[in-house]
Amino acid sequence: MCYLSTGTSKQISKIGLGTWQFGSREWGYGSQYADEVAQAIVRRALELGVTLFDTAEIYGFGRSERILGRALGDKRESVFLATKILPVLPVAPVVEQRAVASANRLGAHRLDLYQVHQANPLVRDGTIMRGMRALQRVGLVGEVGVSNYSLQRWRAAEDALGSPVLSNQVPYSLVARAPEQDLLPYASAHGRIVLAYSPLAQGLLSGRYRPGNRPTNRVRATNPLFLPENLQRASELLAVLAEVAAAHSVTPAQIALAWVIRHPAVAAIPGASSVEQLEGNVAAAEIDLTDDQYQALADAAARFRPLTGPAVLPHLARARIGR
Ligand SMILES: NC(=O)c1ccc[n+]([C@@H]2O[C@H](COP(=O)([O-])OP(=O)(O)OC[C@H]3O[C@@H](n4cnc5c(N)ncnc54)[C@H](OP(=O)(O)O)[C@@H]3O)[C@@H](O)[C@H]2O)c1
Repeated sequence: MCYLSTGTSKQISKIGLGTWQFGSREWGYGSQYADEVAQAIVRRALELGVTLFDTAEIYGFGRSERILGRALGDKRESVFLATKILPVLPVAPVVEQRAVASANRLGAHRLDLYQVHQANPLVRDGTIMRGMRALQRVGLVGEVGVSNYSLQRWRAAEDALGSPVLSNQVPYSLVARAPEQDLLPYASAHGRIVLAYSPLAQGLLSGRYRPGNRPTNRVRATNPLFLPENLQRASELLAVLAEVAAAHSVTPAQIALAWVIRHPAVAAIPGASSVEQLEGNVAAAEIDLTDDQYQALADAAARFRPLTGPAVLPHLARARIGR
């Protein structure tokens, strides 16, 4: 495993584990996954040197935090534990109470990273950061992070907190490259981190899904990337991924992760539906892409033009009724 070179007291692994899948209905992995497989995934991640574990109060309405806390057991205090608050009513006393509730569900004395899940469009960050400051003062929260923030709002959050907001958790993958424009340069220049979520584009970049073999769970049924038309359009990118994967004797998913974490300010938090996937994802940290391979992937990614916006609506409706 490789680790970020940030000044945090605990190491942050370049490949972490995302746990939205744990106990949440929308992924549809069922009770055996929640009760047994998730535990095994976390145990194996610990054995393989993963230190970054990401959850949120909203995942499975607290079930993900509970499952993760139980699986980590007495290792809770040695990993870099990250969770998130949904800023519905982000006044300081509510923020403080919600952090305590998350820590209780996780069984942790401290949240190493407490992230604002998304920017509240109506309430400025001064309000929520008052609560975050208090939580840092009493030691319940180590670092403050944000998620789905623009650069402008990330910087405003830092002004409001009065100290660095360590990380911004955003979609970053071969099919979601917006962070390259401003978030990554900012993170590099200022010792901040970008946490890449959906680094496998929810499984699209594994190459397992095709127009005739689409995933059926609720998360991906509503993700336009999995429309037959877009899966078709992705075939060239998937072919380049497969070619680079063959050159390294690894899988396309591993190459997709290696591509994302090549940037020094990025750690990725892929989810996993099995222990085998977790093992593959962790091993991706050891893959060294050549400059040519990195560029070939970036070029193929730039040529991928999925249907987006209102144009996808009729396709989503058709896909829903199975046509
Ligand atoms: N902050 C936010 O707003 C936000 C939003 C979304 C996600 N997140 C976080 O980011 C994490 C990851 O994002 P995500 O779950 O959306 O997408 P992801 O990590 O890109 O995709 C995860 C899915 O890809 C498949 N997969 C994983 N490893 C694989 C491998 N080695 N080979 C083949 N397939 C593999 C699995 O699905 P199948 O096996 O079923 O195909 C798995 O459930 C989440 O768990 C969550 O912690 C945060």
